[in-house]
Amino acid sequence: MSADPASEAARRRTFAIISHPDAGKTTLTEALLLAGGAIHLAGAVAARGQARRTRSDWMKIERERGISVSSSVMMFEHEGLVFNLLDTPGHEDFSEDTYRTLTAADSAIMVLDAAKGIEPQTLKLFEVCRLRDIPITTFINKMDREALDPFELLDEVHQKLAMDTAPIYWPAASGQRFAGMFDLRSDEFVPFRRLEAGEQGFASRERQSRGDSDYMAGVSDDVRSEAEESAELAREGLPKFDLKAFREGHLTPVFFGSALRRYGVLELLAGLGEHAPAPRAQPAHVKTQEATIEPGRSEVSGFVFKIQANMDPKHRDRVGFFRVCSGRFQRGMTLKSAAGKSFNVHNPLMFMAQEREIADEAFPGDVIGIPNHGGLRVGDSLSASGEIVFRGIPNFAPEILKRVRVKDPLKQKHLRRALEALGEEGVTQVFKPVSGADLVVGAVGALQFDVLDERMKAEYGLEVIFEPSPYQAARWISADARADLDAFIEKSSAQMAEDVDGAPVYLGKSAWEIGYVQEKNPKVRFSGSKERA
Ligand code: G4P
Repeated sequence: MSADPASEAARRRTFAIISHPDAGKTTLTEALLLAGGAIHLAGAVAARGQARRTRSDWMKIERERGISVSSSVMMFEHEGLVFNLLDTPGHEDFSEDTYRTLTAADSAIMVLDAAKGIEPQTLKLFEVCRLRDIPITTFINKMDREALDPFELLDEVHQKLAMDTAPIYWPAASGQRFAGMFDLRSDEFVPFRRLEAGEQGFASRERQSRGDSDYMAGVSDDVRSEAEESAELAREGLPKFDLKAFREGHLTPVFFGSALRRYGVLELLAGLGEHAPAPRAQPAHVKTQEATIEPGRSEVSGFVFKIQANMDPKHRDRVGFFRVCSGRFQRGMTLKSAAGKSFNVHNPLMFMAQEREIADEAFPGDVIGIPNHGGLRVGDSLSASGEIVFRGIPNFAPEILKRVRVKDPLKQKHLRRALEALGEEGVTQVFKPVSGADLVVGAVGALQFDVLDERMKAEYGLEVIFEPSPYQAARWISADARADLDAFIEKSSAQMAEDVDGAPVYLGKSAWEIGYVQEKNPKVRFSGSKERA
């Protein structure tokens, strides 16, 4: 087996799926895993979710609200390529987690419901992808239902996301009349057929070439003439796929299909294989010098983008999700953080569709789980030398801030420790005001407080009270000259705090106030996110 990191990286596609709830992300995930042979039964993802929910007692919220809080990674192979699918939680209150997961993806599939087009959550997630220059492939799902006109859908993508749309396929009708799709690049037709009950495979049949006797056989004349005309218009009038524009985020290739009917999914996967980027070189600092880490570099390096507490409440073990950026990782290796901590990785976890397995090796683009006792943090860079620090793994400014107290005043110290631990894990953000004893916790979404509350009780035995805080916004501050920063901190001490890493944070009473303070202090930078140094 080839073990050269550059060639192994070249056959990897690490991607995430972004969508508004109900657009079909779970169904598509399942169909993709089926294509990769990673699962054999449709329904396995949902069933597994159910099993996980019943197992993980510590997180009752998952059961009660019927949502999955934890995200996972799934690896599968298809036609010689290795796909790493980073699953992001669908609920909008977990957007912070989603954002972080996107930092570990090289591209994303945007799933749209053909009857709905761009929905609010799609837009929000899209903005994160844009921020991070993540190329996006569009999958227009649920073509087996009545859909909006495809021109209208593409125009909406173009208008709302300011991206060119290059259809790779073009649908022939939708809903009951859905007949299949044209391959706009080859002049072939991919007929749609409904799967038989219990059928395991995919609904795409043999392609038909124009001129063949069976070309569009069985498709009614009116559907056929309308569809052919519309496909011709699309071919002539819409942008052609352009790899450079796609990679730079100016253009999205568009695929159509039905995840539920497993139609168009193989074509989407082939498209990812063809266009989506393999692991890219990543910007970093090596011993404070700016550097670009190529996947083929022999030294193993990567970063932690997510920490998940062990499902078992009796153990405080955590799993750090580590995205490999360079080199060939081998089980038993020691990885070091820039802060000098060493992690001997004896039991790295690999996440196959249904099982967690011990990974013997991993290559750039892969994600391994590193069990640890709290030493790892979201955003940590790890490498063999400990000298590589990746840039651009941000913390997001919380949109809701609350003061937190513990019911039993004797447990104040416990509270602080528990909050810090959970803060390091990224469950919520924790700020220590410079003056005053109460800690302030911040979240991107309200549900994060419920998670915090639940875990404080279950894991630390602490009953906490959240109270309104006078602050509504938090900004990390920095300045070119240390003196400017110190001067600002001193005069604003009543509203200054520190985050878990001791970085200075300004707590504002309103967004307006932050704008005002910013204007008055032009030498100080106010940032809604923090990149770890
Ligand atoms: P999500 O993860 O993005 O939230 O969406 P999910 O896959 O759970 O799909 C949401 C609903 O849409 C599900 O129906 C699912 O079956 C349906 N769906 C997904 N893809 C397609 C498709 O291509 N065509 C059609 N017709 N439906 C699709 P549900 O009624 O909420 O759940 P279920 O009872 O069917 O599982």
